[in-house]
Amino acid sequence: MNRPLAVLVLAAGLGKRTKVSLPKVMLPLCGRTLLGTVLDEVAALAPARTVVVLHHGREKVEASLAARGGLTIVDQGAPRGTGHAVQVAMAALEGFVGDVLVCYGDMPLLRSETYAALRAARGDAAAALLTALPDDPTGLGRILRDESGAVLGIREERDCSDDERAIEEINVGVYCYDAAALRPALANLSAQNAQGELYLTDTIGNLLAAGHAVETVELDDADEALGVNSLQQLALARAVMQDRILERHLANGVMIEDPATTWIDHDVVIGRDTRVLPCSVIRKGVVIGAGCEVGPFAHLRENAVLEDGAEIGNFVEVKKSRVGRRSKAKHLAYLGDAELGEGVNIGAGTITANYDGKHKHRTVVGDGAFVGSGTVLVAPLQVGKGATTGAGAVVRRNSPVGEGETWVGVPARRLEKSAHERGPKA
Ligand code: UD1
Ligand code: CA
Repeated sequence: MNRPLAVLVLAAGLGKRTKVSLPKVMLPLCGRTLLGTVLDEVAALAPARTVVVLHHGREKVEASLAARGGLTIVDQGAPRGTGHAVQVAMAALEGFVGDVLVCYGDMPLLRSETYAALRAARGDAAAALLTALPDDPTGLGRILRDESGAVLGIREERDCSDDERAIEEINVGVYCYDAAALRPALANLSAQNAQGELYLTDTIGNLLAAGHAVETVELDDADEALGVNSLQQLALARAVMQDRILERHLANGVMIEDPATTWIDHDVVIGRDTRVLPCSVIRKGVVIGAGCEVGPFAHLRENAVLEDGAEIGNFVEVKKSRVGRRSKAKHLAYLGDAELGEGVNIGAGTITANYDGKHKHRTVVGDGAFVGSGTVLVAPLQVGKGATTGAGAVVRRNSPVGEGETWVGVPARRLEKSAHERGPKA
């Protein structure tokens, strides 16, 4: 498709039904916000312009988008309806020629393939709109068609007659317009409706009245049209998104024993032949090599990196830490801000005490070190290659354990080698 694309993401609504203080489009979904999820999905279409329409909670939402380039953010002012939102967005696209895709910041399950199919379906028509046949159409706009099946327009449920309310085909709220046809169709929207709002849906009737063609695309998977207006709907969306993420890892040869109890965010890399055992939580950005074992009940947080063959077992939390090849922490441990070499054994109950109340500090453990059960490694600290700590040792900060040394006790001290170990006297 060589027509340029502009994407308008509507996200100015209040979202009061969530009952939480966070702006609705900032609710989390598998490691991204709702709005971030939509923006990532539309980015796959390589739009020339992306306009995000905000108002309620604008500062917070805008701050959450700071790391993204290429967005035009407009403030709708007091939201006066979806038609008003698009009027405001189009004012930021003066002179733009091409496709205008309208989507919502609270509809995170629509796939880029669906947006692309809608765009392709427009062809030479002035607009194409997405429709669905959900189990329960309550509250949604209905698609009006004539006897031949041609679209006549969209009617909001509150404006429907009883007969119209019985229509099962609904308006998803996502459209692809020809920019040149959209502008005049937006110009004369009226607020003469049950909600006193400017309805974007009226543009469809306007285009048809002006003699333009309008195409429709029916969603195969009505789940994609799920809009998040409440925390119940957020939970439903999370379950669908979680399944998609797990399916991708399963298809890549990651052995996830129990998908029902496994949480894996977006943007997690896992190598082949790695086993993920039940009740494990793996957060965004974690990188796991091949042939690793994770869980059951493991918690891998941001910037945890497991190299090939590493094993993280039950009730082990790993944060901002690298676990080297074939290194193991199998039971009841916390590894934070740590760097473990290869073949390190972390005994049950080991803690990296990385936080002094003000700052975080690093712990570095060399290849082949054996950290005994219940060791507390108070950071900053270095443990040399092949070193050993005894069970229950508390190794104080800045008291480096040398290569091959053994430290025991509280506070831990270097264990002198026996006469036998030191060898014959000279
Ligand atoms: C809209 C459609 C309806 C469709 C439904 C699907 C209209 C008139 N109706 O209804 O046909 O079935 O979506 O969910 O378009 N928004 C703004 N500014 C505004 C109003 C809304 O940015 O002034 C944003 C909201 O934040 C939200 C989206 O647009 O993300 C949809 O708004 P909402 O008020 O929920 O539309 P519905 O009444 O559900
Ligand atoms: Ca809605």
